[in-house]
Amino acid sequence: MGKFQDQVAVITGAGQGAGKKLATRFYEEGAIVCLLDLNGANLEKVVEEVKPQKDRFVTYTVDVSNSSQVTAAIEDIGRKFGKINILINNAGVLHKGMIETSSDDHIQLMIGVNLMGPMYCTRAAVPYMKENGGNIINVASILATFPNTGSGAYGAAKAGMIILTRVWAAELAPYNIRVNCYAPGVLNTPMAEDVIKHRAESKLSQIPLRRFGETDDAFNLVSFFCSEEASYITGQTIGLDGGIWATQTPTAAWKL
Ligand SMILES: NC(=O)c1ccc[n+]([C@@H]2O[C@H](COP(=O)([O-])OP(=O)(O)OC[C@H]3O[C@@H](n4cnc5c(N)ncnc54)[C@H](O)[C@@H]3O)[C@@H](O)[C@H]2O)c1
Repeated sequence: MGKFQDQVAVITGAGQGAGKKLATRFYEEGAIVCLLDLNGANLEKVVEEVKPQKDRFVTYTVDVSNSSQVTAAIEDIGRKFGKINILINNAGVLHKGMIETSSDDHIQLMIGVNLMGPMYCTRAAVPYMKENGGNIINVASILATFPNTGSGAYGAAKAGMIILTRVWAAELAPYNIRVNCYAPGVLNTPMAEDVIKHRAESKLSQIPLRRFGETDDAFNLVSFFCSEEASYITGQTIGLDGGIWATQTPTAAWKL
């Protein structure tokens, strides 16, 4: 009997990185997992790797910034399984752009995928969650509260996720739907490949625990949020970041 036996979990951005790990671990814990991603070829690769029971691992090629695609996929999930217990708004994309030279396409992509996508997914999923209660997990970023130049549109979208977490927590509490969020610093996924390959030392010097986050760290936190042990926790955003920039001297205590 898995920890999430027969619960229906919808995970966006499940074709690679943290979303792929979350999908795999929820499946191993007995959940019926619905994987949404823009990249259909990657979804097929995940299926080849996991070799799941087909009726417990269902993929949808969906652009989360496209409201009608999202609604169609979630309604199909609702029809197939009759309920959704867990929604993880994980899909995200980060391209840098300074304000003076940001194109409309850049701004729309950053806000569309990282902020509007979770709104579309949550709006579509809630009707299937209300009867049994459940958990919505949002994903912000260290850049929501401690930004870099060039990360304005992405950081603003991710800061929006912190606000939406609080608003949805209150709006959905009467249905026993809890809403929580985590804000990664640097997670070891394709999104952070460049930083980890080319700027590891300078990044590690900002992280008190002096290691990058692993996708299992994300699963461990999400698994806690979705458990009975967290039944009095809602509306919260937790840093998943090794304590990044906790102080002005984050790694001074290390004898390097
Ligand atoms: N990796 C990090 O260091 C880091 C840091 C802070 C926040 N995050 C956040 O964590 C989450 C997971 O990111 P990751 O590191 O696994 O990134 P990743 O780039 O490895 O994976 C992101 C996934 O989202 C999918 N995706 C992108 N646009 C989409 C769209 N329009 N519709 C559907 N799917 C789409 C991609 O195809 C990909 O499979 C994201 O929300 C990201 O912003 C990551």
